[in-house]
Amino acid sequence: MKVEFYGHVRQYKNLQKEIDANMQTVLLSGNYVQGPMLKRFEGELAAYHGTKFAVGVGNGTDAIWLALMALGIGPGDEVITHPNTFFATAEAIWIAGATAVFVDCDPRTKCIDPARIEAAITPRTKAIIPVHLYGQCADMIAIRKIADKHSLKLVEDNAQAIGAAGPGFRIGQLSDAATTSFIIQKNLGTFGDGGALVTNNADIDAKVRKLRNHGSSARNVHSYGFNSRLDDLHAAILSAKLKRIDQYNDQRRQWAARYSAGFKGCTTFTLPVELPGYRHVFHLYVIEVKNPANRDKLVEFLVKEGIDAKTHYSIAIHRQAGYPWGKGARIVGDVANAEANAASCISLPMYPELTADEADYVIAKVQEWDKANA
Ligand SMILES: Cc1ncc(COP(=O)(O)O)c(C=O)c1O
Repeated sequence: MKVEFYGHVRQYKNLQKEIDANMQTVLLSGNYVQGPMLKRFEGELAAYHGTKFAVGVGNGTDAIWLALMALGIGPGDEVITHPNTFFATAEAIWIAGATAVFVDCDPRTKCIDPARIEAAITPRTKAIIPVHLYGQCADMIAIRKIADKHSLKLVEDNAQAIGAAGPGFRIGQLSDAATTSFIIQKNLGTFGDGGALVTNNADIDAKVRKLRNHGSSARNVHSYGFNSRLDDLHAAILSAKLKRIDQYNDQRRQWAARYSAGFKGCTTFTLPVELPGYRHVFHLYVIEVKNPANRDKLVEFLVKEGIDAKTHYSIAIHRQAGYPWGKGARIVGDVANAEANAASCISLPMYPELTADEADYVIAKVQEWDKANA
């Protein structure tokens, strides 16, 4: 049996009628950039998050640095995050011209450890970027308290967790802005690149709207800006998928529960943790081998058996060759949990359109490897 890592074509086939109709609406409208479909989707995205505003941009990386720029954060400023995220989180801080400050992650959730943040704060610190890694929210309540105490801005990197929530909070409620990515493999993904930010702050909304469009909100009138817009064709695809995002996330949660039940007796690795009161949306289902020497062996075994397993992310940002490429960067305290995560993580196939046979085949093969290596 073959088990792919992604189910993009299956999802397209299931929604083909609606996606094609939406795309045709755009194609026949004659409006392809900042047209009515983008406006409609931005309205739907804001309503979904319960925020006042949503702005579609070119990709999830741009969404982060545009948010930082709208907040006035740039050269001379420091922004705190953690080093076991996708590279783009740090990249966006550097594109904004700020210094990336890395602290360790929580060993259970792999999200930033709030207990490590205060030690990293200096007079130059301007913001914190918690990443809702793998689909589970960071502890926004603790992070909000720290941000309030030190007058810091908060930008949630929500590329991986649309639809997730924590105890008593939703994404976008406790921050200045929450950014997301619509690259195909995300829980809400288009067939290509895209991104957005949601916010309740009218100033951020207005600034990012201008910045994404060459600094312009009226024809021929410009200030400093860029070209980073979400195309209407992508908005058309995303509008059809957004309607189903809760159902898709519920399905991911069911596959995650099936995996975790199937792996109950396994002893060579640990399972992803969903903290009480949180809704984990399993963008990725990540196990961690107890002996890092086994990581590549297990991945190779699964690939040989037809299961496309991957790693997210096997090289922490501060361990990438050439780090920090002349950019501002600081590591505060040890980042042992982030490094352990990089050395031991394995992501198993996870998408709503998996079948029970596929999930059970993954479980059987992982169990087989576990027994042989216990
Ligand atoms: C945590 C995180 N942040 C940022 C990004 C950047 O998004 P994009 O690839 O759309 O630029 C991604 C995904 O690609 C991500 O996983």
